[in-house]
Amino acid sequence: MAQGPGGYETIIEPFRIKSVEQLRMTTRAERERLLAAAGWNLFLVRAEDVLIDLLTDSGTSSMSAEQWAGIMRGDESYAGSRSFFAFEAEVRRITGFANVIPTHQGRAAEKILFNVLHRPGGVYLGNTHFDTTRANIEYLGDEAVDLPIPEGVVPARIHPFKGNIDLARLEADLARHGERVCGVILTVTNNSGGGQPVSMANIREASRLARAHGALFILDACRFAENAYFIQQREEGCAGRGILEIAQEMFSYADAATMSAKKDGLANIGGFLACHDDELAAQARNLLILTEGFPTYGGLAGRDLEAIAQGLREVLDPDYLRYRVRSVAYFCEKLQARGVPLILPPGGHAVFIDAGAFLDFLPREQFPGVVLANELYLAGGIRGVEIGTLMFGKRDPATGRTIHPPMELVRLAVPRRVYTQSHVDYAAEVILDVHARRRGLRGLRLVHEAPFLRHFTARLEPV
Ligand code: F0G
Repeated sequence: MAQGPGGYETIIEPFRIKSVEQLRMTTRAERERLLAAAGWNLFLVRAEDVLIDLLTDSGTSSMSAEQWAGIMRGDESYAGSRSFFAFEAEVRRITGFANVIPTHQGRAAEKILFNVLHRPGGVYLGNTHFDTTRANIEYLGDEAVDLPIPEGVVPARIHPFKGNIDLARLEADLARHGERVCGVILTVTNNSGGGQPVSMANIREASRLARAHGALFILDACRFAENAYFIQQREEGCAGRGILEIAQEMFSYADAATMSAKKDGLANIGGFLACHDDELAAQARNLLILTEGFPTYGGLAGRDLEAIAQGLREVLDPDYLRYRVRSVAYFCEKLQARGVPLILPPGGHAVFIDAGAFLDFLPREQFPGVVLANELYLAGGIRGVEIGTLMFGKRDPATGRTIHPPMELVRLAVPRRVYTQSHVDYAAEVILDVHARRRGLRGLRLVHEAPFLRHFTARLEPV
């Protein structure tokens, strides 16, 4: 097993801490008042009233000393900034794409790409489209179809590459929709499906099928390094290969990629769109100038481009990735050992609690995912996010009834290089305590909802 330094078993944080941010302790009574004032919605609680913030792994990474040094080096020239060329070189080295277009974050890259690819009745086929990806596709009147493998939607089913796309359904849908298919999108790792990896074999075959049908093959590459690490650890024939080489092969099958550098870019803001085709890139740059900025900064400051270039180098470090994936697995194992229902095996960036099973006595109309997330906050100041009926439930216009998403989850996303093992031990202790007394929890009812993305602003109250 020896995977730690010096042949020892213990895997350690491969960094030491030079700058710290104080955490603010609160009491349960204070948190009860704060949550009630926030309409029982954790999105409306102030971050300083949270002890351990696991709302997202996006934009929340700690930057390294080298990244902060890059911040000082940033060249803020409007056109042709030195920082752009450093960024471009790093993205090219990893992805092999000739055209690298910076954007302020991932969804801006998505919006530009889907605008260029849009056609009447357009369809995108993917493993599981992330919510901003789906929203940007649907906003243009196009359709996003999720084709996860059957194992991917059963929380407790073990599969090494649970993020894979179902190749048989992909082939059938490519044939069925024909010319209407604008692109095939593989999200690596598959965030909405539990941060689960996609295998190299699956990427290769999905790419072959897409290209055989004349469709563009796109990687949503937000967590490409974590995915590459899982391939190295789990896929046959990949054990001895380097992470960079695996990542390069993943990108070699793609015609284009969108990326949020707020994840595996180890940066607090940023993203890019990259592709081979010059004509596609020219159209994308025209849109970029309208909404993001000139093609050598695209909505970012020069210093952000430096931080991303350095972050992309650091994220490929095998010691970092071993620590990263191990710390999420460690968190899961502590909960799994005591019977907390989870998406298994552990994904790359988050623990996903199966709130439907955790609170199986609560009807889904009473938002068990929100109830659980809220209780983790009340009990221990931990903030996670419901991914279930509040986020994705839709009202059937004919019957007025709610159509529930397939799973009722609470995601506890782990920010990169931010929390230590004792923070994880504490969070696990809180979750186990809540699990032991789960039968005492009460449901919630909705008292206010907005027409779109209602989870951000909804207000609820205890039933
Ligand atoms: N694609 C995936 C797979 C994502 O997880 C995200 C963001 C995006 C695209 C959009 O990137 O935020 O830079 O615009 N996910 C965050 C999360 C918000 O919490 O999972 P962005």
